[in-house]
Amino acid sequence: MVNYKDLGLVNTRAMFAKAVKGGYAIPAYNFNNMEQLQAIIQACVETESPLILQVSKGAREYANQTLLRYMAQGATEYAKEIQKDGKLIPICLHLDHGPDYATCKSCVDYGFSSVMIDGSKLPFDENCAQTAQVVEYAHKYDVTVEGELGILAGKEDDVEAAKHIYTQPEEVEEFVKRTGVDSLAIAIGTSHGAYKFKPGDDPKIRLDILHEIEKRIPGFPIVLHGSSSVPQDLVKIINENGGKLKDAIGIGEDQLREAAKSAVCKINIDSDGRLAMTAAVRKVFHDKPEEFDPRKYLGPAREALKQLYMRKNREVLGSAGHAFDC
Ligand code: G3H
Ligand code: 13P
Ligand code: ZN
Repeated sequence: MVNYKDLGLVNTRAMFAKAVKGGYAIPAYNFNNMEQLQAIIQACVETESPLILQVSKGAREYANQTLLRYMAQGATEYAKEIQKDGKLIPICLHLDHGPDYATCKSCVDYGFSSVMIDGSKLPFDENCAQTAQVVEYAHKYDVTVEGELGILAGKEDDVEAAKHIYTQPEEVEEFVKRTGVDSLAIAIGTSHGAYKFKPGDDPKIRLDILHEIEKRIPGFPIVLHGSSSVPQDLVKIINENGGKLKDAIGIGEDQLREAAKSAVCKINIDSDGRLAMTAAVRKVFHDKPEEFDPRKYLGPAREALKQLYMRKNREVLGSAGHAFDC
């Protein structure tokens, strides 16, 4: 058993309270390897932003959960080292889309400071029961818990949902009361991956549902998954350098900026980072076919990711400059 507090990590409680009050959202960035972790930490230290580092089930399988946990521990040391005055930005280590109680428990025991239990595909009563079980265990160790109501369209793990099943505002109060969760992920038209809308669609999220939910649970921390914007300049670089991403369309950054001003206090972004790294790697492979040192293409990929996330923190989430808010 490892407690996250001994690793220099924090849970989401204070972060969320400040974000809801301050009208910004905390970046929740996924990582699977060292270059992503370095870029995320560098971006958040340089912009003085609080940070949620996310580990998915796929990441645990890819990189090994023990190694990831030590990397996160290293991340707090690294963040202190690169911060001018040695002051540590708040860093939370979060399990993204926890599939069941056992996985959530294992993450709590391994030093995560926050877990998501994703019961969104279960019937309401079962989702409540499973989420409440995770909350009961996690709260013993002061680990915070994110639950989810509603289903995002698109592919998530091995399950494909053809259409959005929007969160029903009339269910949120009861869910929050029955489970004791610390934050709630909702479905309002965002979706995972790089193909969120089809050409000709109206690429809008349902801010009206968000506002209806906010009325029912005022000030309660809301989370948006599937919030990549799929920058078209990155798609263009990828396609000009041998890639084949056809009709990749994301959520407008203006809509996310609007959502971040409300009780939305955590915004999940992964695909945009994948695009930034892929564009940089493809460009090196195309422009310098003689290179075979991984540092020569992973280095530019890391820098591209850092630049993208610095811009997100400043211009989209509004989290820049809020790391040391009292
Ligand atoms: O929600 C999905 C995240 O982007 C993580 O993706 O399951 O492929 O690691 P992954
Ligand atoms: P994107 O695929 O839109 O980046 O969403 C990531 C996410 O929701 C991780 O949980
Ligand atoms: Zn997600």
